[in-house]
Formats: sequence, C-alpha cells, structure tokens
Amino acid sequence: MDKQDLLYSGKAKKLYQTEQENVLHVEYLDQATALNGLKKDQIVGKGELNNQITSFIFNYLKEQGVASHFISQLSKTEQLVKKVQIIPLEVVLRNLATGSFVKKFHVEEGKVLTPPIMEFFYKNDELNDPMMNEDHIHALQLATPEEIQEIKKQTRLINELLKELFSQIGLTLVDFKLEFGRDLETGAILLADEISPDTCRLWDQTTGQSFDKDVYRKDIGNLIDVYQIVFDRLMKLN
Ligand code: C5P
Repeated sequence: MDKQDLLYSGKAKKLYQTEQENVLHVEYLDQATALNGLKKDQIVGKGELNNQITSFIFNYLKEQGVASHFISQLSKTEQLVKKVQIIPLEVVLRNLATGSFVKKFHVEEGKVLTPPIMEFFYKNDELNDPMMNEDHIHALQLATPEEIQEIKKQTRLINELLKELFSQIGLTLVDFKLEFGRDLETGAILLADEISPDTCRLWDQTTGQSFDKDVYRKDIGNLIDVYQIVFDRLMKLN
C-alpha cells in the first residue's frame, strides 16, 4: 500500500495517509529526544530497532488476545496501522520506582511498588504533560469513566504479559508508557503508538544495567548497542 499525504511529523515517527481511508503508514525515525525535546540527536539505526521491537511486541500481544492499532510490519522502518482517534493521555505503569516518580516522592530507587502504580499524564507539550487523575480526564472530556476503566484494565493486562515476555529474555520491566485511541468504526478502546525501549524501562535481572532510553537520557552508554541486544534476545524467542 503506497504512502500518500504526510499527516503528522513527530519526534520519533512520521504518519502518512494510505489509499485506504482508515489505514496509516508509519515511518520510524532515527531521532532521539529527551527532557521534553531539550536534548535532541540523530541516532542512525534507532528507527529500525524501535519499529522491529514494537512490531514484535504488538504481534505478541495480539497472540495473547490484546488488540492494537498495529496491522503489519512493512519494512525495517515502516508499519501499517489502523487510524484511530487518539486519546491525549500518556498512561504510565510502574512496577519499580525510578525516574520522575523518585524525583516526585523521594522513595528509594528500585523500590518494588505493590500494587503497581498507574499514572495518567495529559499529552500537551505546552503544559509540560501534567499528571491527571480520573476526575480530570472525565471533566475535561478526554475520556468517559467507562473508557477510563477499559484503559486501566488493558494496561494492567499488558503489564502482566510484558513482564512475562521480558523476564524470558532476562529483563525486568520497570515501567512503561502506553497510548490508546478509539477505533473509528466501533469506538472501542485500542492500544496505539509504540512499545519499545524508548517507552519502557528495562533492567537486566542480574546486573541492573539499563537496556532502554535512560542510556541516552543519562549519557551512560550507547543506545543502539542496548536496543540491539533487546531486539536480538526477542528474536531468539521466535
Ligand atoms: O519519566 P518517567 O519516570 O515519568 O517515565 C515513566 C515511563 O514512561 C518510562 O518508561 C518512560 O520511558 C516512559 N515515558 C515515555 N514518554 C514520555 C514520558 C515517559 O515513553 N513522554
């Protein structure tokens, strides 16, 4: 399916219309950003790795009964996805304390969070993605209470499935961010965006080493090297 008009150009992806009204062509880019865009670099090979890892994970989730916008991987950097109406929320699930959570609550780095904590952030660069609760989401009409319950249910299920997947390759799923949309035909809540080392924190089960974007955020190693290891280990599961 050929790509047509460019619909959106973001930090890590470009979205194109295809000849089919409800199907989009996604191109993963080599750009890395952190600190809400303040830190920015071109990292050759990043788009390829994130597309391939996301495609693997969305296929795995589908096999486990979790639908998403993902249709198919087209090439190393491209995929086809269903067009959805994106809900402007970042849904974060935390199994272990780190990142902004430690900054905010001053708890010990790596503390196991029982039960896992779910947080919602309003996707809004101008406002710096403020944290929201369910009342905010409802009152600002971003989603209905029923949709919020569905998002929470899917996020908890995805956490269980991804914890299991990553533990099979020696990694602890520390935390991750999801985005959801509405299916344009049925209105159903559908997992969207990507799931990759850009959007998850993954720690080696034995050494605690980061295999995710923290390597770039904190300048503690080579991003491509660690993303490649995640990809190679996932491929060995096939
Ligand atoms: O920075 P923070 O600790 O809140 O991040 C929690 C999780 O959400 C991390 O896995 C991070 O990679 C992900 N995240 C993201 N996109 C953002 C903010 C956080 O993928 N804009």
